[in-house]
Amino acid sequence: MPVVAEPEQESEAQLEARFEAVINRKDRVEPRDWMPDAYRRTLVRQVAQHAHSEIIGMQPEGAWIGRAPSLRRKAILLAKVQDEAGHGLYLYSAAETLGVSRQELTEMLISGRQKYSSIFNYPTLSYADVGTIGWLVDGAAICNQVPLCRTSFGPYGRAMIRICKEESFHQRQGYELLMTMMRGTDEQRAMVQESVDRFWWPSLMMFGPPDDESPNTARSMAWGVKTHTNDELRQRFVDMTVPQAKALGVTLPDPELVWNEERGAHDFGQPDWDEFWDVVKGNGPCNAQRVAHRKKAWDDGAWVREAALAFAAGDGSDTSSDTSSDTSDGPRTA
Ligand SMILES: [Fe+2]
Ligand SMILES: [Fe+2]
Repeated sequence: MPVVAEPEQESEAQLEARFEAVINRKDRVEPRDWMPDAYRRTLVRQVAQHAHSEIIGMQPEGAWIGRAPSLRRKAILLAKVQDEAGHGLYLYSAAETLGVSRQELTEMLISGRQKYSSIFNYPTLSYADVGTIGWLVDGAAICNQVPLCRTSFGPYGRAMIRICKEESFHQRQGYELLMTMMRGTDEQRAMVQESVDRFWWPSLMMFGPPDDESPNTARSMAWGVKTHTNDELRQRFVDMTVPQAKALGVTLPDPELVWNEERGAHDFGQPDWDEFWDVVKGNGPCNAQRVAHRKKAWDDGAWVREAALAFAAGDGSDTSSDTSSDTSDGPRTA
């Protein structure tokens, strides 16, 4: 192993210059690299908020697993909801590389100090909502997350690559469910339209407030944490979704939605931003229910965490020579 001379202590300015150079090269910042405190704080907030959204987002759809209309639909929905749990775990792991623990993050979620996506504070009222969430909510998530595969913090970007692959399965399963219902009865078509009417505006809100009301965007973009503004991504989502709605045969509930030849993009109306801020502040239809459910699961799981910690600390060491639970057919050596 080559012997490398200890580098001299770098000054704050040198460290900062090195960090800036990494960002400017569009290279990745890794957990052990020096980074400005504000960059670390921004990432903890963003990655935690993202992880919380994956975990809380299991609730509105999980509620339909027991009521899925066929074994096939149940298997699809179960796989989808399990994927979201996996996304939460990758993202908590990415956040942990920044020096926070999952316990701290979960406590911040259940005490309301950290947020999750406002979309999950809306209820799922019919089975069509499973399809609409897959199509619109996972679709919006894809628009948001594909650019994040190139975000400047390495563990976050790498987690996003796998997550995005799974999100495209989620979007397709939602679209396929809605397509099946649209080919069904008048009642099924009405269910789909009613669901799309409820989820369209909250889906547009998923990109966050308009650029002129999003004070952190400029700094996040300078750091390479974000690569597109909220309004750019919202536009991309609308342009992607309109032809899909047409193929499906549903109407998007926006009278201002029209193709703008000059811009080569759709013009569209603005969501009710007062409603958005109200939901963000905790007053959406399901905020209290979502957080209470998460808190109960956290409290109910306390004994599992305690047992795992006790085992890791050595209290369970006598099981190392115990093969009584070994189900293999080989000879017992104990
Ligand atoms: Fe996800
Ligand atoms: Fe998803």
